[in-house]
Amino acid sequence: MAGKLYGVGVGPGDPELMTVKAWRLVSTARVIAYLAANGGESTARSIAQPFFPDDAEQLVINVPMKVEREPAQAAYDDGARQIAQHLDRGQDVVMLCEGDPFFYGSFAYIFQRLGSRYETTVVPGVTSVSAAAAEMKIPLSARDDVIKILPATLEAERLREELATSQTAAIIKVGRHFTKVKTVLSALDLDSSSTVIERATHVDQNIRRLNDIVESDIPYFSTVLVKAEVAP
Ligand SMILES: C[S@@+](CC[C@H](N)C(=O)[O-])C[C@H]1O[C@@H](n2cnc3c(N)ncnc32)[C@H](O)[C@@H]1O
Repeated sequence: MAGKLYGVGVGPGDPELMTVKAWRLVSTARVIAYLAANGGESTARSIAQPFFPDDAEQLVINVPMKVEREPAQAAYDDGARQIAQHLDRGQDVVMLCEGDPFFYGSFAYIFQRLGSRYETTVVPGVTSVSAAAAEMKIPLSARDDVIKILPATLEAERLREELATSQTAAIIKVGRHFTKVKTVLSALDLDSSSTVIERATHVDQNIRRLNDIVESDIPYFSTVLVKAEVAP
């Protein structure tokens, strides 16, 4: 019988923000898979690592992060093939994902390739957006508020259109797009309503007002929360 595939959200950084289910699956896993961007450290691995069984096999899927999509797609194909080899031998595979697996999570790429072939369980995790709001102590939403999640990779004009009709937005994947994001927010007079968090809930977390940041880019694991004051 084939093994089961688990896509496990490990939360935004603090290992205590892993769910009990994520902790149980990780701490009893025989095979643990995770992605490593450009051969670097895997954030998901570093979050869950305190709970790895000593003898668990670790399956590292190296993904080249480039503007072109093809190299990453080939790496996901290869990663899915390696995971499938374990599943075909009857071994369960726990694949770690930073935050939530289906919220801009890379597990979706593996799920696309294997989800219809193998029994799969997806374990949701605390997202970076929830973590950012909690750490900034900015309540995200109430009543009929609308929240937008905007990837900073969007063109400036699209960001402008989306932000012009939103009182609350979380902008993710900011990193090297920071200057574009700041310019758009300033043009809409939303810069003073914007707060930036780097590495939310990690030990080196950093929170700054957008207008206090002078650098042209910021770390990839950064989120901007825009919350315009609305007259009561
Ligand atoms: C590919 S998305 C993955 C989102 C993740 N699956 C989640 O549930 O939050 C990566 C982006 O999420 C945001 N992000 C993830 N973890 C973060 C953290 N600990 N602090 C701030 N932003 C984070 C950043 O904007 C980063 O560029």
